[in-house]
Amino acid sequence: MASSLYCLKFVYLLSFLSTIHLVAVPSFSFVQPLCHGHERSYLLQFKESFAIINNKSISFDPSAYPKVASWTLEGNNSDCCSWDGVECDKSNGHVIGLDLNSSYLYGSINSSSSLFNLVHLQRLNLADNHFNHSQIPSTVSNLSKLTYLNLTNSTFSGQIPLELSQLSQMSSLDLSYNHLEIKNPSLGRLVENLTCLENLDLSLVSIISIVPNILANLSSLTSLRLYDCKLHGEFPVGIFKLPNLRVLNVRKNKGLTGYLPDFQWKSPLEEMILANTSFSGKLPASVGNLGSLTEIDMRRCNFSGLIPSSLGNLTNLNYLDLSLNTFEGHIPSSFGNLIKLSFLHLAENELNGTIPFKLANLTQLTHLFLYYNHLSGQIPFGLMNLTKLSSLGLAGNHFAGEIPSSIFNLENLEALDLSANNFAGVVEFDKFVKLRKLTSLHLSDCGVSLIINETSDNTTLTKFQNLGLGSCNLSKFPNYLANQDELKWLHLATNNIHGQVPEWFWNVSKENLEVIDLSENFLTSLGQYPVPLPWTRLAILDITSNRLQGSLPIPSFSTLEYHVSNNSFTGKISELICNMSSLQVLDLSINNLSGSLPQCLHNFGDSLLILDLRRNTFEGSIPQTWTNGSKLLMINFSQNKFQGLLPRSLAKCIMLKALDFSNNQFNDTFPSWLGNLPNLKLLILRSNKLYGPISTHKAKYKFPSLQIFDLSYNSFTGSLPLKFFQYSNSSRFDSASHLTYIEVNSSFIVQNSFQNYLWNLQYSYPMIMTNKGVVTDYKKVQEFFIALDFSSNRFDGDILESIGNLNLKGLCLLNLSNNILIGHIPQSLKNLVNLESLDLSQNKLFGEIPQQLTQLTFLESFNVSHNHLVGPIPQGKQFNTFPSNSFEGNPRLCGSPLTKKCESSEVSLPSPTTPEESKDLGSPFQFGWKIVLIGYGFGLVVGVIIGQVVSARNHDWLIKTFGMRKLVRRLI
Ligand SMILES: *[C@@H]1O[C@H](CO)[C@@H](O)[C@H](O)[C@H]1NC(C)=O
Ligand SMILES: *[C@@H]1O[C@H](CO)[C@@H](O)[C@H](O)[C@H]1NC(C)=O
Ligand SMILES: *[C@@H]1O[C@H](CO)[C@@H](O)[C@H](O)[C@H]1NC(C)=O
Repeated sequence: MASSLYCLKFVYLLSFLSTIHLVAVPSFSFVQPLCHGHERSYLLQFKESFAIINNKSISFDPSAYPKVASWTLEGNNSDCCSWDGVECDKSNGHVIGLDLNSSYLYGSINSSSSLFNLVHLQRLNLADNHFNHSQIPSTVSNLSKLTYLNLTNSTFSGQIPLELSQLSQMSSLDLSYNHLEIKNPSLGRLVENLTCLENLDLSLVSIISIVPNILANLSSLTSLRLYDCKLHGEFPVGIFKLPNLRVLNVRKNKGLTGYLPDFQWKSPLEEMILANTSFSGKLPASVGNLGSLTEIDMRRCNFSGLIPSSLGNLTNLNYLDLSLNTFEGHIPSSFGNLIKLSFLHLAENELNGTIPFKLANLTQLTHLFLYYNHLSGQIPFGLMNLTKLSSLGLAGNHFAGEIPSSIFNLENLEALDLSANNFAGVVEFDKFVKLRKLTSLHLSDCGVSLIINETSDNTTLTKFQNLGLGSCNLSKFPNYLANQDELKWLHLATNNIHGQVPEWFWNVSKENLEVIDLSENFLTSLGQYPVPLPWTRLAILDITSNRLQGSLPIPSFSTLEYHVSNNSFTGKISELICNMSSLQVLDLSINNLSGSLPQCLHNFGDSLLILDLRRNTFEGSIPQTWTNGSKLLMINFSQNKFQGLLPRSLAKCIMLKALDFSNNQFNDTFPSWLGNLPNLKLLILRSNKLYGPISTHKAKYKFPSLQIFDLSYNSFTGSLPLKFFQYSNSSRFDSASHLTYIEVNSSFIVQNSFQNYLWNLQYSYPMIMTNKGVVTDYKKVQEFFIALDFSSNRFDGDILESIGNLNLKGLCLLNLSNNILIGHIPQSLKNLVNLESLDLSQNKLFGEIPQQLTQLTFLESFNVSHNHLVGPIPQGKQFNTFPSNSFEGNPRLCGSPLTKKCESSEVSLPSPTTPEESKDLGSPFQFGWKIVLIGYGFGLVVGVIIGQVVSARNHDWLIKTFGMRKLVRRLI
């Protein structure tokens, strides 16, 4: 399919030999003149300057052969005009054409090449050879009669010489697919005198400039191809008006802006390829006047507005791709007139309404993609007339009703994606299996329940490559899987599969399976499984959220992501696990695993991004084996029984964003050696046996990105480590980052013969803070969110007045409770304007509560209880909302909400309590009622995108088949 589309496109391109004008041969001469001796020797010299290397990397065209092999003086062969690829003028014998494309020529070429002595040359084709990164020699200007020059894909490099601009006869210039650039001269100067140009192809030439207006003066242009030239600026609208232009291709120039003009003229335009640019605006109704169009490709631009129904006038259209824009409104029913259409792609827009029943007229359609819009209604029965359909993508809409049974008549279907819809009813899976060509089926979360009838003869059935049956109400593993050996990905997540994984499962598609997702079922046992698991290409294994018991399976050593979270696995981690030397994600969280970690964990050193061991019962110390060059981004050791020192070698993991040691028994001083990690945003040390003062001396370069910093429930002493925020990276408080989260994305593409699937994994740090019974649920931590929890330690001294002046503008949560802090509550706290929660309780603070704190308009929770505060409680704004227990245990505070009324003297004469007076309140550690409970966990989003890849066209057709936002798993 793919290659035939490709061929169609180029079939009309004439081989140049057939374009040669026959010159009348004078009637008195019946003998064609022989070639000229000097030209013959130029040709032979040219031949000698290259090696002939019969290899695909030199000439990739399947029909390539070494044409110059016939260039020899041996035998009766000295007439060079009869040599392969050589064309002579029939009247005078001069060499006027050389067609050496795909001839396995390998070697450099320079200005002194004898080629440039062939001054009668009109046509020169050296395409698809390998000129070893030569520059295009400037002596090309000797060939002043050249009308045709084709150097495509022949490994030329460097600047295109200005001399080329002297070839004023040039009508066809193809320099595409090399490593060329156009800097000086500019594109404008290069072509300004090439007024005869008909075909210009500079695809992949690095032009890095605007498109010069002068191109709009080249009135002979019939084709202009500037694919992937790094163009920018606004596209000259005059080019659309070129009277002879048939092909316009500016695909993949993301910097190129432009709009479509009002087409009130006759135009022979056949191909309008603007995909992957920043063209914007509406598709004007007048586009319906371009009656010659056969191909419109506007994929991934910025077009918007309605799709004009006049598109239905373009009855020659064969290919229409408007995907990945923001078109809205309905699919015009006039599309039913486009009876030559074979490819229709409207996916990932904002279209609504139903599928027009007239689309049933498009009997030539092979590809129909409408996925990820807002389409609704039923699938029109008539669509099933589209018997040539090979790919049908309707995922991610609101289609309802039953899946029409006639879909099972589409015998040519190779890929069907109905996932993420609102269909209803029960469908027999066998019916899909009988579609003999179907290799890719995605029904996950489409709304139907599948029944699997196991009676049919399994051996003759379809071989699937991709099978997505997530959320299909399956209650067992489909037996027919046992005969699948081409399967690349298998998604059975979120079904009702109970019990043991069948034994035959370990033999399914051993050579091909790359992704297995069995998560969110009720599996209790893996039964007898091979060690390691048998799939030699396995990349992703996800069995999270089942009820699996026993020891941890060891996946194939090829595995990139290993997810077993939220099961009941027990026992130690085997050393064998370290053989997964490409591992990127290791998520063993929420199991009953125990013992110490294998020393060999450093084997993951180079590849591991995410390590989550949270909520197990691991013990012992953590291996000191992290290495330089580590890519680790997130590590979670929390809620285990780890002991001993914190692993110093983590200081080498310079990419780290999040590190959680909380709820263990680490016995160490503060890890100031982590202070040089440039990206560390979360550091959670809560509830360990950490002790001693925290030196912020030389704090200038410490913890430059820290924003969630939890030291609570340890035995730290000395003054508060606020100085880390004195010189911090101000960019972390950029308002621009307000919509981003602390997360890690990784993706994996399963490549299939004609479809690609992108598995997109997004790990973010969800966070729950329970404060005074108010649960604040941060599903993800926004990049700007800042929280400091230093509570329940032995910090002493003042809360410095300078706190309000630190780089903490975004601070949302500050908890200093249950320490031995003395002194006043600083007025400057009022500067922390984003503060939502402030807890200073159970310290030895004295003086009054500063009136200025009423300026904290986001403050939801405030606690200063059990201090030695005096005087009136500030009144108004948020302070009217705080309950009395926010203030209790301060006998000399007065005013609402406390019952104690203020004396007038107290209002005017605040008298600070001395530290002596506060002694009788006892140690702050006697208060055990604490407070902030923070659970950190990894949340998991898995997205699946099916990509339709027609490699010859080099399209990146991606079909999103799962939003999978529904698969956000809260693991706390
Ligand atoms: C260029 O040639 C290389 C190998 O010689 C081949 O792999 C590639 O597909 C060719 N590209 C185009 C655009 O023809
Ligand atoms: C240049 O040669 C290649 C390979 O033969 C061909 O595909 C392409 O169409 C030619 N370019 C032009 C402008 O004729
Ligand atoms: C194009 O032709 C004009 C007039 O002959 C000449 O002045 C100019 O230099 C030429 N441009 C280039 C790039 O050769």
